[in-house]
Amino acid sequence: MTAPIAVAAGAPFAKLLSVASFVPSRVVDNAEMCTWIDSSDEWIQQRTGIAERRWVGEGEDVETMALAAARTAIERSGVPAAEIGAVIVATVSYFHQTPSMAAKLAHQLGTNGAAYDISAACAGFCYGLAQAEALVRTGAARYALVIGVEELSRFTDIHDRGTAFLFADGAGAAVVGPSETNGIGPVVWGSDGGQAEAITQTSEWNEAVSTGERPYLTMDGRSVFKWASGFITEATKNVLDVAGLAPADLDVFIPHQANNRITDAMLRHLKLPEHVVVARTIKQFGNNSAASVPMAMDALLSSGEARSGQTALLIGFGAGLVYAGQVVTLP
Ligand code: UT7
Repeated sequence: MTAPIAVAAGAPFAKLLSVASFVPSRVVDNAEMCTWIDSSDEWIQQRTGIAERRWVGEGEDVETMALAAARTAIERSGVPAAEIGAVIVATVSYFHQTPSMAAKLAHQLGTNGAAYDISAACAGFCYGLAQAEALVRTGAARYALVIGVEELSRFTDIHDRGTAFLFADGAGAAVVGPSETNGIGPVVWGSDGGQAEAITQTSEWNEAVSTGERPYLTMDGRSVFKWASGFITEATKNVLDVAGLAPADLDVFIPHQANNRITDAMLRHLKLPEHVVVARTIKQFGNNSAASVPMAMDALLSSGEARSGQTALLIGFGAGLVYAGQVVTLP
C-alpha cells in the first residue's frame, strides 16, 4: 500500500496582525514638478488630486524603505522575526534581477523563512496578502510578512508629461498570522494581458547596455482610467459580494491611490454609505504602486480616521493589467 502523504496543519483563519509604512523624506511639490513638465499645480490637482509626492532622499532607496516598513510591522505585530515563515515583497522597481529582495530582507530581519518577490504592479500588495492568507491557512507558514515597496522616481521619466507627476516612492508592510475568526476575505483577482501595453516600460533593461538609455514607465492614461473606473469598479463590487457583506457593513474603503477621479467614479457606482472613510493619501504621497494600499491603511490608522477592528475593502490595480482585492479587518 502507498504510504499517505501528511497534510500540513494550518490555522482555521488568518488576519492582519499589523501594518506599517515608510514615507520617504523628499517632498516634491507640483511647483517643482512643473520645472520638468509643461503643466500646472491646478491641472495636476484637478486631474489627479495630487498636491505633492514623496521621493527617496539622502540614504534612502527601495531596500532601506522596505526594511524600515517591515521592521515596524514586525515590532507592532509582537511576532518574533524568527517565527515569520514567509517574506513576500511586491515591487516593480527593484532593479537587481537576482537574488530576490525578499531573501536579502528576510536575512536582515532575522528570519530564514521562505522569501520571494512578486511583480503585480499596483495590485502587488493585495496579491501578496492573498498569498499570505493562503500560506497561513494551509500551514505553509504560521506567520507571513507582506511588503509593498516602490522607488518609481528611478523608473519615471521626469520629462514625460503623461506620467512624471503621478508616480512616487514609499513602502508599506503587514504581518499576517493565525486567527480564530476570519480577518481576510476571499480574494477577487485576475489579469488582462491583452492590455499589457497600457502600462509598460519604454525598452528592456538589456537594451540599455547598447543604447545607454535606461527604460522608463510609459502609460496610456486614458485607457487605464477607463478600465479602472469601469471594470475595476465591478470587480470591487465582487470583493464585497464574495465576502458576504453589503456596502453598509464597510467602515473603510482603501482603493489603490491611482487618481482621485478614479476613486470618485468608483464611489458613484459602489454607493457606499456616508459613514465609510475613504483613503485619499494620493494628495500627499502620489501614486506609490505596490506600496499605496498599505501606506494608506497605515496613514488612516495613525491619524485616527480608521480604527483597529474596523472592516475595510482593499482593491489594487495596475500594470499587467492586473488587479486584486479583499475585505479585511484592520489590525
Ligand atoms: O497606478 C496604475 C494605474 N494608473 C492609473 O490608474 C492612471 C490612470 N490614468 C490617469 O490617472 C489619467 O489618465 C492621467 C492623470 C494620467 C491623465 O489625465 P487625463 O484626464 O486622462 O488626461 P488626458 O490624457 O485625457 O489629457 C487631457 C488634456 C489634454 O489636452 P486637450 O487635448 O484636452 O487640450 C492633454 O494635452 O490634458 C492635457 N494634459 C496635460 N495638461 C497639463 C495631459 N497631461 C497634462 C499635464 N499637464 N501633465
